[in-house]
Amino acid sequence: MSGTRSPEPSSTEPNSAEPNSTEPGSVQADPAALRERLTAIARSLTLEQQVRLLTGADMWSTHAEPAAGLRSMVLSDGPSGVRGAIWDERDPSLNLPSAAALSASWDPELAHRYGVIVAGEAIRKGVDVVLGPTINLHRSPLGGRHFEAYSEDPLLTGEIGAAFVRGVQSAGIAACPKHYIANDFETERFTASVEVSDQALREVYLAPFERAVRDGAWTVMSSYNAVRGVTMSENDLLRSPLCEEWGFDGVVVSDWTAVRSVAAARARQDLAMPGPGGPWGDALVAAVRAGEVPAAAIEDKVCRLLLLAARVGALGAEPPPRTRPVIDAGFAREVEARGIVLVRNAEGLLPLRAPASIAVSGQNAELPRTQGGGSATVVPGETVSPLTGLRQALPATVVSYHLGAVVQEGLAELPLDCLTDPETGSAGLRVRFRDPAGDLVLDEVRFCSALVWLGNAPVGDLATLEILTDYRPTVTGPVELGFAVIGPTVLSIDGVNVLGADNSVAGHDPATAVLSPPASTTVVELEAGRSYRLRLEHSLADTVRQPGALGITLGSRPVISSEDALIAEAAEAAREAEVAVVVVGTNSQVESEGFDRDTLALPGRQDDLVRAVAAANPRTVVVVNSGSPVTMPWRSQVRAVLLTWFGGQEYGRALADVLTGAVEPGGRLPTSWPGEQAEVPVLDVTPVQGVLRYDEGIHLGYRAWLRAGVQPAYPFGFGLGYTSFEYESMSVAPGPDGTAEVSIRLSNTGARTGREVAQVYLSRPDSVQDRPVRWLAGFAGVTVPAGESATVVIALPRRAFEHWQDGWALEPGSFTVQAGPNVADLPLRAELTPRPDQPPRADQPPRPDQPR
Ligand code: BGC
Repeated sequence: MSGTRSPEPSSTEPNSAEPNSTEPGSVQADPAALRERLTAIARSLTLEQQVRLLTGADMWSTHAEPAAGLRSMVLSDGPSGVRGAIWDERDPSLNLPSAAALSASWDPELAHRYGVIVAGEAIRKGVDVVLGPTINLHRSPLGGRHFEAYSEDPLLTGEIGAAFVRGVQSAGIAACPKHYIANDFETERFTASVEVSDQALREVYLAPFERAVRDGAWTVMSSYNAVRGVTMSENDLLRSPLCEEWGFDGVVVSDWTAVRSVAAARARQDLAMPGPGGPWGDALVAAVRAGEVPAAAIEDKVCRLLLLAARVGALGAEPPPRTRPVIDAGFAREVEARGIVLVRNAEGLLPLRAPASIAVSGQNAELPRTQGGGSATVVPGETVSPLTGLRQALPATVVSYHLGAVVQEGLAELPLDCLTDPETGSAGLRVRFRDPAGDLVLDEVRFCSALVWLGNAPVGDLATLEILTDYRPTVTGPVELGFAVIGPTVLSIDGVNVLGADNSVAGHDPATAVLSPPASTTVVELEAGRSYRLRLEHSLADTVRQPGALGITLGSRPVISSEDALIAEAAEAAREAEVAVVVVGTNSQVESEGFDRDTLALPGRQDDLVRAVAAANPRTVVVVNSGSPVTMPWRSQVRAVLLTWFGGQEYGRALADVLTGAVEPGGRLPTSWPGEQAEVPVLDVTPVQGVLRYDEGIHLGYRAWLRAGVQPAYPFGFGLGYTSFEYESMSVAPGPDGTAEVSIRLSNTGARTGREVAQVYLSRPDSVQDRPVRWLAGFAGVTVPAGESATVVIALPRRAFEHWQDGWALEPGSFTVQAGPNVADLPLRAELTPRPDQPPRADQPPRPDQPR
């Protein structure tokens, strides 16, 4: 799909039609000479040196080979920001809104800028490869990493993902589209095998990867799962279509620990992460010597690693240092406002017009989720809550706050302004690692009570970790205090042991063990303003974790004597205010890497809270702070509903921008939003005897809802703005080589400038092929001033019409073209017969199945 044109005095947004700018500087200059140079370097290394390069040097970096002029390269998660090689509040990262917020913008140009900003963060943090974007699909809303992926639709995912890749790589940083392939669920994620048809793989799951690779991705991550019984790091799908058909010349990086055998070296798997251990090393050297793995395969892998190094400036003479960009929090605010989806606005309650009072409730109003959990987590320097955002935006409005309902499960970290380091007397916690002899290995002050070390914890067998802080609570009464960590731990208060536990987790998911460890708590009575010496002693003898990986939280949970009373208080405050705003959402035990959800319902008593507030005040706005769909049984009882995702560090300010109308809610749903969980057509994420069957084939997301004849609460593509649009007319014209061009005329019939996302869908009712009821073929955003019209031109590539049947094929005959604001509202219709045989014009971009 390409761009939009408008003769009107309105701004239009090009859709990612940008040259294939994948290789900066000298790398692009003479590819043949470069290949020769890289081969010569690879051949100058011994087999041992070559093989060493193919496993990580540690958790996040590759080995250097100074003799070859190769420095180590650093890889890091995001992708909604860049964490860097350490997880540490003393080196914060920009926390951008989650992937679903970005894709809800339906704006590849914004995704490109997002990629550029991410690359800036990578440069600031000394990172060469950003482990993202996640371009798996929203197959089921129960998917635990749904928040991290873009959409249920392959085209939208591909457009946003490829633009992100181009943005990152335009700054000389490698992107790493992940996880290849069919990694759309978390249950048994290391071992489950996916049964999926070729047609579904090609038309749906592989399509976004094809788009990102053809746009020049320098690396791709192979996933943990198997497809048709073969684990992905050994799977032939790495060779074809990835390399042989799409021309991928980059490095296949394994997901962390996904390389499990020497056999993976015979596949197109290049780099085994993390290191320095792992199944390759000496075993691979021996396998090559024994003729079990061809030496040429090793040399090829090394050449590709060297090519990556050349691309990111890690090979040869040190490139001039990159300018360290500053953290651009304003961009996080912009993306979030562009991604917020307004799905209900009865009687035009929004935007708010400076009300005298607002009663805010919901735990996420004060402690929002700005990002999803797991490896995607970054450590922001500062986050802005909805409550703070509203108070800042409306200084003349009385904004009250009531908790209403508890969302948190597990422990919340203790607020820094209540903690004092006993040694220095300033804010913080004292953290000490001791070796088996009791000698100090590390003694430092930290500024947050949820600590994670990913590979860099100075842990050895039988050593201990001590955390010490003076805690001054702000509230008198009972509180649950405790810790979350795997292994034997004791909590003492003022020298008295109050809690001891040895937590463990079932299964062997290292990420869950470190990032989501189980909690133990005890109820203690505390007095506001008094100082309590808290001490945690944790034994590091446990061996579940990856070397050097450890996660530990010292935290609390409120003790609630009556949930009903909390709801009643919030409702009472709402009754007395002009407007009520309830912020509902999920928590880190619900949406995170390592597990899938088992319900779409909001945790705790939040549904009851919304009903009670709405009954007390008809002018109620509900803000949903979740990364993926939740059920909203009260949605018709409230005036306005905003779906706001995990909003990044500027969440509260962006939300206030939208609520007050300073900015339009720009988002359109990138995924169907169900009304009832029982109605979701594709829900299952649980493998049976190790196998997850994608029996729905190509019919997922809106395609499945349409096929089932059931309406979701809000359809794919849907979203309201603060103005209205009318779709006036459409013309369609076949182009050369099976392409087409669609022109849509629409007008802004409301009173303010607004942005519309015009969407084009194809269908083929008489098809002899298995086809979706209709499928997204193109889209374009356009901003139109009040009362004006615009013409949006959307180019459809040949692939939009093709289907997979042992190869890409174009079914002869006519397709129905429909256009409108979402998949369920398509007022414009036309018929179009592509002309596959008319040769492409000289200026025509190559077809997606032809090498560039
Ligand atoms: C995740 C990847 C991530 C890697 C490194 C894995 O558990 O699946 O997405 O990039 O860890 O943190």
